[in-house]
Amino acid sequence: MREDILNLLKNTDDFISGQKISDKLNVSRTSIWKYINGLKEEGYKIESVSRKGYKLISSPDVLTYEEIKDLLKTDYIGKKIFHYDTIDSTNTRAKELVSKGEGEGTIVISEEQTLGKGRLGRQWQSPKGKGIWMSIILKPDINPVDASKITQIGAASVWEAISKIGLKPYIKWPNDIILNSKKVSGTLTEMSGELNQINYVVIGIGINVNAEAEDFSEEVKPIATSIKAVLGKKVSRKHLVADILNKFEVLYNDFLSSGSISKSIEICRKGSKIIDKEVRLISRGTEEKVKVIDVTEDGELLVKDVNGNIKKIISGEISVRGLEGYI
Ligand code: BTN
Repeated sequence: MREDILNLLKNTDDFISGQKISDKLNVSRTSIWKYINGLKEEGYKIESVSRKGYKLISSPDVLTYEEIKDLLKTDYIGKKIFHYDTIDSTNTRAKELVSKGEGEGTIVISEEQTLGKGRLGRQWQSPKGKGIWMSIILKPDINPVDASKITQIGAASVWEAISKIGLKPYIKWPNDIILNSKKVSGTLTEMSGELNQINYVVIGIGINVNAEAEDFSEEVKPIATSIKAVLGKKVSRKHLVADILNKFEVLYNDFLSSGSISKSIEICRKGSKIIDKEVRLISRGTEEKVKVIDVTEDGELLVKDVNGNIKKIISGEISVRGLEGYI
């Protein structure tokens, strides 16, 4: 009933009377009043005027299906969204939901994560209402060795969506999105499968959208930023989520039908921060200086080592750092 009342309010430009809602939905005027109060508590601004009824003035920037659905142009990505106020990790929840039968395209979003996970066992700080903390469930019928390519599809989609705001983000291979030399977004891809078959892939995307410097720990502060910090104003999270999912579905469909992620790689190259640069590759305590030549069609990093040997690096356990610092 709550959704039905909200839909009526959303689809009426002017006031809608309590009587009209009551007739349409077969619900008492007292119940309507209670639902309206509930919606106001959730952050919906609703004007109530006697003899005129109710009018929706504005909706809160919450990342529920109701708020995102009208912005989606997808066929199956995001057609079902599990939304939480707070949760440990959306990736963890997504994996639980797969085991309960949730399928391709289902999204898990939380306003806050208490145990957000980053790559290589790191933590991911996820303050309430300040970012996009979401996971996409996928069940691609592909060779498990190709699953990591989906990370690149995620990075390309986020890069496109942030560029659309008018900013100039960079992609630091394989999945970091950089604004003003600091990290604004990362992707954590988790997979379950057999040798020759994937059970599922969960792609977790974290974006610092409206976070302030004080939302980051002292350790993270020097290397993290948010879209708001760079743009100087708040950004609508739901538009950003929809833009990412819309792009993601196009690139993912292309990958499934062609077997190639060349469209995503094109974006990753265009947005690359490290092509032609010297970087350090760090893996399990070892560090190597290389020059980045390109990102290959398969999403590997093509580098030249100090002896002039050309090597292909797969993302796995590797961190890429600049010669002096983070970039
Ligand atoms: C990284 O760059 O280290 C990856 C960060 C990934 C963070 C996202 S937030 C949503 C999803 N749930 C998690 O616990 N992690 C990912």
